[in-house]
Amino acid sequence: MVAPPSAFTGRHPGWPARLGPLRVPAGLLEVRGPRLWDGAGWSRVRKRDRLHLQSWEPTVPGSWTDNNGTLAWPHQWSTLRSLARRGLSLPFVITVDGQFAGQVTVGNVVRGSLCSAWIGYWVGTHTTAGGVATAATALVVDHAFGPAGLHRIEATVRPENTASLRVLRKLGFREEGLFRRYLDVAGGWRDHLCFALTTEDVPNGLASGLVAAGKAEIPE
Ligand code: ACO
Repeated sequence: MVAPPSAFTGRHPGWPARLGPLRVPAGLLEVRGPRLWDGAGWSRVRKRDRLHLQSWEPTVPGSWTDNNGTLAWPHQWSTLRSLARRGLSLPFVITVDGQFAGQVTVGNVVRGSLCSAWIGYWVGTHTTAGGVATAATALVVDHAFGPAGLHRIEATVRPENTASLRVLRKLGFREEGLFRRYLDVAGGWRDHLCFALTTEDVPNGLASGLVAAGKAEIPE
């Protein structure tokens, strides 16, 4: 039984939160809010993985090195924290074996009769293809549909992004259509496929499905 929107009366339901742990092939995965001291790990991974990330992320003004340097993190962190405190976003850092591994963010939270948001994620190359994005997204969607009180989560992805398409399809996201020239990514307006889940699609949660399928374990 899904709680009605009126049951979630706080200013930022579901925030802050700490999710997991889950054991996946890459290691012990946890999901938590961003911290000021994440800057060194965040910057190290993002500067190293520019080629891995830049083709899929929204275009932002300025150089990659400046935008992803350690000095850029405090502003990013405080923006994320401010959005979370206003109930507009649920921004999370992913750690694997205690080390910074990537981010998963629920953004553009709209309440009222929509109770909807988008989800986006990235994972560093040191830990890709180890089930990290799939498990982290599962934990965050379960949280968004539970304590955060949302009803619908959308994910948009470029048709060329095979790894991300695989993440969404593994989790059972429904493909709903193609958004033409939807988002400015890597310097141009790119088509995106739209996927979505609503609470009715996952009555038992996504993470429990991964565990039941043997793709993740709850540690002792
Ligand atoms: N072709 C086909 N399948 C691939 C490829 C590829 N080139 N690369 C990886 N895969 C598969 C993996 O084998 C795995 O499937 P499997 O479990 O059936 O073997 C799946 O894609 C990836 O699953 P995870 O291991 O859970 O995902 P991972 O932790 O590797 O992260 C991610 C995937 C987030 C897409 C990562 O590659 C990344 O950060 N890419 C750059 C940024 C990005 O694209 N972010 C997503 C934008 S779209 C959005 O946010 C909705």
